[in-house]
Amino acid sequence: MNRKIFFGTNLKMYKDIQETSEYLSALSNLTKDINRDEIEIFVIPSFTTLNSCKNAIGHQNIVLGAQNMAWEEEGQYTGEVSPKMLKEVGVKLVMIGHSERRQIFKETDEQEGKKVRKALESGFSTLLCIGETLEQKNYGVSGEVLAIQLKTALNNLDATRLEQLRIAYEPIWSIGVNGIPAAPEYAGEMAGIIREVLKDLFGEAGNDIPILYGGSVNPDNAEILIKQKNIDGLFVGRSAWQAEKFDKLIRALIKAVRD
Ligand code: PGA
Repeated sequence: MNRKIFFGTNLKMYKDIQETSEYLSALSNLTKDINRDEIEIFVIPSFTTLNSCKNAIGHQNIVLGAQNMAWEEEGQYTGEVSPKMLKEVGVKLVMIGHSERRQIFKETDEQEGKKVRKALESGFSTLLCIGETLEQKNYGVSGEVLAIQLKTALNNLDATRLEQLRIAYEPIWSIGVNGIPAAPEYAGEMAGIIREVLKDLFGEAGNDIPILYGGSVNPDNAEILIKQKNIDGLFVGRSAWQAEKFDKLIRALIKAVRD
């Protein structure tokens, strides 16, 4: 069988309850004929929409994700949301360490590590986001930065849970309205470095951990990106926020990979 391809989107702090439900229903409907043995589609909306998303009809074929998670079940952690609470509202995937969490809210690799461990233990698919700043890229230390982020966050991980883990490589300089898309060859080279670190950490099992690229993915660059060795999926922001456009992109990419 071919390797599974992952297509996901993070809705960030956009879309209210109604907009999110409409988006999910539309995306689910549009993509319902695509065989989910070959691909996975996941959507990560804001916390306040999750409960309604769970109850909205007809998107069982889309994996519902949360944008963050506390590393404890409950306690004195004002403002945080626990794994138990996320399960209650039907969440199946948790994103950890998005660059906006790291950059704006100053989350550290150690904190991301605690969250990854807890998310895996709690049975969630766990998407760890990593990426270098422009300054680090210009100093030529991107590979070292990625290795530090991975080795810190994945330190001493229980290997029995590895099939739940996914890595999103998102160079910080490529993300968002001011982002510059990474050259596909560069993204491929970094994915290769990530693969080596994963093998270093987990042996041959490191080969099976999906690596997604994210950062200004758009219909013009997506096909070349997905064809890079070691890139198993795309993590898309703005270009995925209309269901019709995301569906079109997904279909074009499946075709590009399988042809
Ligand atoms: P973008 O967002 O595709 O809009 O650059 C990517 C992300 O933040 O994950």
